[in-house]
Amino acid sequence: MALVCVEDYEKEAFRNIPKNALEFYRSGAGSEFSLTLNIDAFKRWRILPRFLRDVGEVNTDCNVLGYKLSTPIGVAPTGMQRTVHDDGEIGNARAVGKVGGIFILSTVSTTSLEEVAEAAPNTTKWFQLYIYKDQSLTESLVRRAENVGYKAIVLTADVPCFGARRADARNKFKLPPHLGLLNFQEDGSSNVKNMQGFSGINEYVTAQFDPTITWTDVDWLVKFTKLPVVVKGVLTREDALLARDHGCRGIIVSNHGARQLDSVPATIEVLPTIVDAVGNDMTIMLDGGVRQGTDVFKALALGAKAVFMGRPLIWGLAVNGQKGAEHVLELVQRDLELTMKLSGCVNMSDITKDYVAHESQFSK
Ligand code: FNR
Repeated sequence: MALVCVEDYEKEAFRNIPKNALEFYRSGAGSEFSLTLNIDAFKRWRILPRFLRDVGEVNTDCNVLGYKLSTPIGVAPTGMQRTVHDDGEIGNARAVGKVGGIFILSTVSTTSLEEVAEAAPNTTKWFQLYIYKDQSLTESLVRRAENVGYKAIVLTADVPCFGARRADARNKFKLPPHLGLLNFQEDGSSNVKNMQGFSGINEYVTAQFDPTITWTDVDWLVKFTKLPVVVKGVLTREDALLARDHGCRGIIVSNHGARQLDSVPATIEVLPTIVDAVGNDMTIMLDGGVRQGTDVFKALALGAKAVFMGRPLIWGLAVNGQKGAEHVLELVQRDLELTMKLSGCVNMSDITKDYVAHESQFSK
């Protein structure tokens, strides 16, 4: 069967990923209300196309946090990518490099940050940071990322503890024995493999991540690193203002793929409020439920400068390694270009809120 969209890749991946890993990647928190909402909320925005403009060539070149890119579509940090295919993080980093987008490497990766940097030198790479109880571990991760050329630190703010992932609790998902969290010493202390009990991942987070962090730690990070700091996981105007006031350069509006607190809004629902609050002061980006070009277009129209996809790249990897990841990115990129042509937008700066309307506007 020809695979022509992310949904096709998802269906194909569901057939070939082992059940407990599949459930780890697919699932959301609680009753998965927000997981469904992330997808459905995009459908509540309509695109208002303009015609009879010269759309012979469209261009997705853009500038995000001062870095030149050929696409606003990037890869969100997802943990343990080699679980689904041995190409893992390197496959995804190289794939998004080919379309000229950003790769964000998770702290809990199954390939070390140095190996990814060496294998994908031409990709713009950012490093996603969890703050560990062991301060020296956190410091060394940041310095290592700086030393090998990562261009921003993405601090994930929404994991003071693990969300209620029922699927993982049922399946007791653990990292397969041949893989490890390779940003850490294999001495066992920081390794999820050694965690027993109801969900290995949950135990790891509880043991290692610092649940007491506050905006004071953000102040520390902004001072400690020479890289721009981006906060990932902001869902309110209030936290957006705090991120700005504490010196962060960007925000990823995210609900962690609906894996933390269930019943939070879809990210596209809160994007306009956050752009309204701080859009002139900081770079606002979004992830959660982005699956096709029209989703990317809507997020850009509502003020995001870039979007990231998480699960779609897992499905791409699972189906055909790096080639599958490349194809997923190409499909969404081509779909964005098509959306631009069919709506009369030639450049990124043409895509404004004039091109979208919320469905509530049609029911008045
Ligand atoms: C994630 N996400 C995530 N975020 C993060 O900051 N660090 C991490 O290690 C992970 N790990 C992770 C694993 C898996 C399996 C998923 C699905 C997600 C969240 C991720 O960066 C992103 O916010 C969402 O995946 C975006 O939503 P979509 O594109 O999956 O709908």
